[in-house]
Amino acid sequence: MSLWDDRPLAARVVEALALGPASGQALASAFGVSRAAIWKAIEQLRAEGVELRAAAGVGYELVDPAGFGAGVLSWRCARPVHYFPETDSTSRRAFALAMDGAESGTLVVADSQTAGRGRLGRSWVSPPGTNLYLSLVLRPPLQPAQAPLLCLAAAVGVAEACGALIKWPNDVLAPDGRKVAGILAELQAEVDALRFVVLGIGVNVNHAPPDVPAASVSELRGAPQDRAALLGELVAAVERRCAQVGPDSPALLAAWRARSMTLGHRVRVGDVEGVAVDVRSDGALLLDGGRAIVAGDVEMVAQPSV
Ligand code: BTN
Repeated sequence: MSLWDDRPLAARVVEALALGPASGQALASAFGVSRAAIWKAIEQLRAEGVELRAAAGVGYELVDPAGFGAGVLSWRCARPVHYFPETDSTSRRAFALAMDGAESGTLVVADSQTAGRGRLGRSWVSPPGTNLYLSLVLRPPLQPAQAPLLCLAAAVGVAEACGALIKWPNDVLAPDGRKVAGILAELQAEVDALRFVVLGIGVNVNHAPPDVPAASVSELRGAPQDRAALLGELVAAVERRCAQVGPDSPALLAAWRARSMTLGHRVRVGDVEGVAVDVRSDGALLLDGGRAIVAGDVEMVAQPSV
């Protein structure tokens, strides 16, 4: 904890309480503020949905010390979170909320899913207590043709938060190619306007499913990860990158290129094969010889040894 930490007091208080209970006096001394200021910060946290209790001889205590309940998640993501200890699919729930008019930024998070959906009709294994399963509703003022760029933007945000790389268009992978996170983008659109997009994101935070080549963020970073903290960073990064989608999206495309593990490699998509040379401003993957891939699953082809 730095003396010069300039985040709001409430943020520093909840971080301190995540380590264990503390009295108002102890918090006041640690942060060099009055007990009244601590009391105000506690009231602010409660108003934001963080569940705290005060007990004689113990002081203030987070009701959910593991930090994965509606209150702590809402605080971490700076919005009310629709949290479920278990649900079928956060994306199904988020899509239903969006159809009912839920605003941009609506976030559904589950500790576990019983019917997690993956791309191309696959399923997403979603055990409790270990990984992240979330779906974010966005209503960007874009054309349906720009939707592929939102997929790239989501991948950049997730890869930045997880310290991982991207395989075109939006697979988030470890440097050795094992999957760290998956993104399922589903949308509602009219001919000339996107009504909403639901970005469903699954991240292997502390556990990598054994049945697929998968890696976890904890493995990449060499230590168990705080899921709630990672969720807050990830949602902020995804929203920041999605806001960069526009006619040319230069900052977004530069960030995508910087994390790409596809560019410069020989790839196969269906029966098309070539070296990936760039990503176009509409999100398509450009191959040598001028061919462009707009959709599909990229397979990395081993380069022949010379
Ligand atoms: C992929 O196949 O790579 C995409 C997987 C996306 C899984 C996430 S988990 C949270 C959200 N809810 C779902 O049912 N699916 C997405």
